Amino acid sequence: MTARYELMRLHLNCSPMKAEVADLLVLGIESSCDETGVALVRAVGEGVPLLLAHALHSQVAMHQAYGGVVPELASRDHIRRVLPLTTQVLSLAQCTLDQIDVVAYTRGPGLAGALLVGAGIACALGAALERPVLGVHHLEGHLLSPFLGADPPTFPFVALLVSGGHTQLMRVDGVGRYALLGESIDDAAGEAFDKSAKLMGLGYPGGPALSKLAQQGDPKAFKLPRPLLHSGDLDFSFAGLKTAVMVQAKKLCAAQTDARGAAAAFCALPMRTQADLAASTEAAIVDVLVRKSLVALARTGLQRLVVAGGVGANRLLRAQLDAACPLRGVRVHYPELDLCTDNGAMIALAAAMRLRSGCQQANTGYAFDVKPRWPLAQL
Ligand code: KG4
Ligand code: ZN
Repeated sequence: MTARYELMRLHLNCSPMKAEVADLLVLGIESSCDETGVALVRAVGEGVPLLLAHALHSQVAMHQAYGGVVPELASRDHIRRVLPLTTQVLSLAQCTLDQIDVVAYTRGPGLAGALLVGAGIACALGAALERPVLGVHHLEGHLLSPFLGADPPTFPFVALLVSGGHTQLMRVDGVGRYALLGESIDDAAGEAFDKSAKLMGLGYPGGPALSKLAQQGDPKAFKLPRPLLHSGDLDFSFAGLKTAVMVQAKKLCAAQTDARGAAAAFCALPMRTQADLAASTEAAIVDVLVRKSLVALARTGLQRLVVAGGVGANRLLRAQLDAACPLRGVRVHYPELDLCTDNGAMIALAAAMRLRSGCQQANTGYAFDVKPRWPLAQL
């Protein structure tokens, strides 16, 4: 738990007494992919909900050996983690189970088995505590996550959602009022980072590692495509970029022979060359994300940009947006770094904001389904 959350907890002085009627204590459970996240968020009156505590277990180490997420292993691990993490956040927030007003869980999109674990446990908890439950859209959680930050946005805004599975530009007019402006027609930005990183032998998930390596490289060293940069619309395409990175890596490795494969041959290149290709790859992805975000802002006439999802943690993306946006009178809002990637806090927050805005009611039936494929614009 960071110092900021500790302060929030102390400030709220979460007492063992039942929360006041105006307060809403929401337990959030995230289990859509390879992170188990649990959090407690408190909504006080009409104000922005406050994060009391959150806890996370990342499965990255478990999946690393396979080069990507193994769905069955992910589901089994979520089963092991949800309840201990729940005990942990209750203890961090000095709250008790019976103080929880609503149990929220990620209903989709994501891996079906993994989603079912979170949904099943949330509904069992809800039934046992006789509290309502609420299924949340994972991307809505990401999109609203900057509201838990030090500099929360106000509506309306343009949202750049950049995760491992999605790259979307949305117009956001309020909670539940989302209009899709453009999206990736193939790979997501996070996928472009991960796939490029994999062929550079950087492991999984490769985004943070590629970005770290890129810091020592020259972003102009290799000429890589900026797909759909001038397409006139707000769509993205990253599959061709990944192929271009692969072709470039193969050329560089042509003189190498390494029986262990292409990634090992790449790792045998001089460190400077590796870093140059990483920096050129990162620059190509970031250039497209920044340019299209600026076009979306100009077209909508909005002057706020919210960046959310795992790639929102990227250092270069933040630096370029921080440089470009103020020149156009645009304010940019990010989630806290530890809330960029998947977590339970954003699920509890989205549930609290949906309940508070009246756009969804919690369910007391405890029958549940999950939605592995679920476009945000369908909410
Ligand atoms: O939002 P997220 O945790 O999961 C999904 O909902 O997909 O995003 C994970 C993605 C991965 O592709 C990961 O490589 C990428 O976010 N990522 C980054 C960085 N941190 C995470 N990509 C680039 N730079 C980073 N610093
Ligand atoms: Zn996510």
